[in-house]
Amino acid sequence: MTDLRVHQGDITALDVDVIVNAAAPGLGSGTGVSRAIHDAAGPDLFAAATALDPVGRGDAGITPGFGLKARWVVHAVGPVFVTGKMGEDKVLARTYRRALELAVEKGARSVALPAISTGAYRFPKGLAAQIAVATVRAFVAEWPDALDQVLFVATGGDNIGALTAALSAQP
Ligand code: APR
Repeated sequence: MTDLRVHQGDITALDVDVIVNAAAPGLGSGTGVSRAIHDAAGPDLFAAATALDPVGRGDAGITPGFGLKARWVVHAVGPVFVTGKMGEDKVLARTYRRALELAVEKGARSVALPAISTGAYRFPKGLAAQIAVATVRAFVAEWPDALDQVLFVATGGDNIGALTAALSAQP
């Protein structure tokens, strides 16, 4: 049984096995949560991430956490929200699923997830939270022994409300 919960705070500070980054395909440092993760982890993270092959939308790569408490960073590339009718929902779900798969492959027991695509990529926060929670619930139902804890992390405001509502809604 996996504990799912919302955590308000800076994802870079968390002592978990894996933190997930909302990355761009080239896996550079970027802005937003990605910049915060790269700043906290140090330049070795940039070198390791940019040495990976570019990652398509809905996919992810993994590196060590370097200066972070987290042992690993999954660099997950979410969709850019355009109209909402271009399959963005499916790509966002695939992004979360792929991130969890990579974490479990490394033996992680705890994973922290940011609200992928809800910043620079403009995904509506309520819909993004529903997709995030539904995708994680489906994954942990399928693999009930794989993970002890998944944290949905946001720094505040709309994302916290949206994630809390999605998590308290009946599956
Ligand atoms: N901890 C947790 N959440 C954070 C943090 C943090 N330290 N900093 C920002 N966030 C939240 C934002 O509030 C936003 O809701 O992360 C969410 C994701 O926003 P972005 O970081 O903009 O990610 P995304 O929308 O997926 O866009 C990715 O932005 O930085 C570039 O290189 C990145 O091009 C890529 C794009």
